[in-house]
Amino acid sequence: MCDLLDPLKPSVELNPEFFQKSLLTWFKQAARDMPWRENKDPYRIWVSEIMLQQTQVATVRPYFERFMQAFPTVRALAEAPLDRVLKNWEGLGYYSRARNLQKGAQYLLAQHQGELPQTLSEILAVPGIGPYSAGAILSIAFDQAVPAVDGNVIRVFSRLLRLKTPFDKAQPKRELEQVVQGLIPADAAGDFNQALMELGALICRPRQPRCLECPMQDLCQAAANGNPEAYPVKGKKTKVKTVPMAVLFLQSPQGVLLQQQGAKGIFRDLWCLPWSEMPLDAAAAFEALPFSVEISPQLTEIEHVLTHRRLQMRVFLGQAKLKSLPEGFVWAPLDQAHGYAIPVAHQKIFRFLVAHPLLLDLYGADLSIES
Ligand code: ADE
Ligand code: SF4
Repeated sequence: MCDLLDPLKPSVELNPEFFQKSLLTWFKQAARDMPWRENKDPYRIWVSEIMLQQTQVATVRPYFERFMQAFPTVRALAEAPLDRVLKNWEGLGYYSRARNLQKGAQYLLAQHQGELPQTLSEILAVPGIGPYSAGAILSIAFDQAVPAVDGNVIRVFSRLLRLKTPFDKAQPKRELEQVVQGLIPADAAGDFNQALMELGALICRPRQPRCLECPMQDLCQAAANGNPEAYPVKGKKTKVKTVPMAVLFLQSPQGVLLQQQGAKGIFRDLWCLPWSEMPLDAAAAFEALPFSVEISPQLTEIEHVLTHRRLQMRVFLGQAKLKSLPEGFVWAPLDQAHGYAIPVAHQKIFRFLVAHPLLLDLYGADLSIES
């Protein structure tokens, strides 16, 4: 682990017993009630950990309850239509997690009688389960001493030890897993891992960490140095690509036109307003649609930022004459559009238009079309 250390403080050692006692004593009184902490059902813990990977506890809570009602068992999840799984995931974002969760459930049903396996190598073979989720499930559900290093844990240890390394590569993370492994108490692995996550979420927050309330303050190099917010050290920024796109809002008396996306692309498997990457000429934007459409001047531009892309969505109203609805399209009544798994980016457009009904009036007072 020497490689990780800030050269200013090369000789830090953490005493495992003292570390464990400080952390676990704090966790006993600070642990928040969470629906997935009610019992040690491995399926519930698996689902919760996947949801929590990129989403905060407060957001996850209601989704988790609903998801568990919709898919109470591994089998229910494995056998559900993908569209329904995505619908129940809507709002959590990063839909590949939902797709992988279902693939994982199908794998468990085929390979392990629908149970989560209890060895590291077997659980890592489940689709969607990486080292973090594996450690979280094995420690929380089965009390195995396996580390679960997520962003919270990286932040806490970067500060405790003033680690000089950014964690944008796999190697430093593996080294940190070794360090954490050496600290896990054999008889409280699940609590220990969750205490670290909870400490990162409640006390050692990204901004304004509460060092004065922190049970680890006496051990903490960054607090002693007065600069916890300087850690974790940032790596090089990943480039965010700007993607201009044209989006079509086309209404009929039966609702708004939605198009089901294919299995590839940023919105794969979801329902979207018809869209295309923005060509130079707006009129060319919707040439690929299986019907011809007349578009309004650009109504507005709405931005939505994903992990690697900044979407600049230019919104157009459309008018078209359709004899019948082409394959892969539906009319979604405005008040029932929530029945479809629509990406958050396009939900923003709905919200904008609902908030600006006059715009709909301005361009083609009656948008009804023949059908
Ligand atoms: N973040 C991810 N998993 C968590 C857990 N089990 N408890 C608290 N925060 C978490
Ligand atoms: Fe984080 Fe401050 Fe606690 Fe150190 S003392 S672990 S910086 S909250």
